[in-house]
Amino acid sequence: MRVQVAIVGAGPAGLLLGQLLARAGIETVILEQRSPEYVLSRIRAGLLEQGTVDTLEEAGVAQRLHKEGLVHHGVELCFAGERHRIDYQGLVGKSVTIYGQTEVTHDLMDARKAIGAPSVYEAESVSVHDFDGNSPRVRYRTDGGAHEVTCDFIAGCDGFHGVTRQSVPAGALKTYERVYPFGWLGVLSDTPPVSEELIYTNHERGFALCTMRSMTRSRYYVQCPLTEKVEDWPDERFWDELRSRLDAKASAELISGPSIEKSIAPLRSFVAEPLRFGHLFLAGDAAHIVPPTGAKGLNLAVSDVRYLAHGLIAYYRSGDSSRLDRYSERCLRRIWLAERFSWWMTSLMHRFPDTDAFGRRMQAAELTYLFRSPTAQKSLAENYVGLPLED
Ligand code: FAD
Ligand code: PHB
Repeated sequence: MRVQVAIVGAGPAGLLLGQLLARAGIETVILEQRSPEYVLSRIRAGLLEQGTVDTLEEAGVAQRLHKEGLVHHGVELCFAGERHRIDYQGLVGKSVTIYGQTEVTHDLMDARKAIGAPSVYEAESVSVHDFDGNSPRVRYRTDGGAHEVTCDFIAGCDGFHGVTRQSVPAGALKTYERVYPFGWLGVLSDTPPVSEELIYTNHERGFALCTMRSMTRSRYYVQCPLTEKVEDWPDERFWDELRSRLDAKASAELISGPSIEKSIAPLRSFVAEPLRFGHLFLAGDAAHIVPPTGAKGLNLAVSDVRYLAHGLIAYYRSGDSSRLDRYSERCLRRIWLAERFSWWMTSLMHRFPDTDAFGRRMQAAELTYLFRSPTAQKSLAENYVGLPLED
């Protein structure tokens, strides 16, 4: 098989890239190691910045998002039992949209099927070759045997544990990493959300987040030690723990019910530099990870892909490779700002096991400052709604 761009990974990054390129008449194949059902069963992000919504519109996959997505004009932060609202609209004139990553992925899969572009699910032993030379190739195996795709470019959209970044010679890559000493235990349930907007809570027992997927489906998270397993958390224990961390009103109003999904995610900050190696481009979680407190992971994957798609389209339309040449630098500027915000929100809202009394007082002082400073609130709002996207 020969295509212009071979895409490894059918998460949101790979599927969106495939869709933006298909609309510009560029041929792609997507190689994904899992089944479509498995990809859709991973419950992850839920908060989309305006720039992400705009990019999904550009890809022609925003109809259902506009119908079913919930537009939020603000957020609440809770500390010492009191909630404080940050008014996105009032402070920066923008909002965010709550729409699950699963739904985004679903819409992109449907669009790819409708276009008739090829995807290979359950592709085994995917490997990338000669991306630094002139004949980039991707090899993989299926039940039917061994296959090879030749292409002009390879897009590594295969997430943090993927094969593409790991195929880059160690000396060509610089990585930066911080692993946090806790995880997030998440529960999805078919119960109405406890509040109309998201609530991020800093509590002595640890962080908690109340979010949602719709007015009948809630998503809740509590910070937990990395040693805990999902089996240690029967529903009752989860709801009791969540209730104990919320303010009195939310705790009284919380409606619990059977969990329909429960998982523990570790928290990590990670950046690999650069994002381009000859004919190989990394995008999304393959290149960077943020702790979810800033709600930036999916949004960054979308902004990387938008820059990459625009670069490839300019190259195929007019031979202009200047955007591709600037891809890494443009993405990294945005990535580091998102890393800063996600690290800062994580530091502000969690209970760190090795933080002493002084550290906890500093956290309290930082929150007190935030609640009385319109400038600090504006900065927080600016970061949650997302910094403006370039073309
Ligand atoms: P992925 O979604 O990881 O997709 C990569 C794909 O590549 C996968 O389908 C994988 O199976 C495939 N793959 C891997 N290896 C190979 C291989 N060798 N060969 C072929 N295919 C391969 N982000 C936000 O913006 N907002 C939020 O509110 C938010 N909340 C989150 C909450 C949680 C609990 C978690 C865990 C994450 C959250 N994120 C959030 C982050 C967001 O989910 C990720 O950043 C996003 O999934 C990145 O998309 P991606 O396509 O780059 O990678
Ligand atoms: C989610 O809806 O799952 C979600 C929202 C905001 C975050 C993290 C996760 O910061």
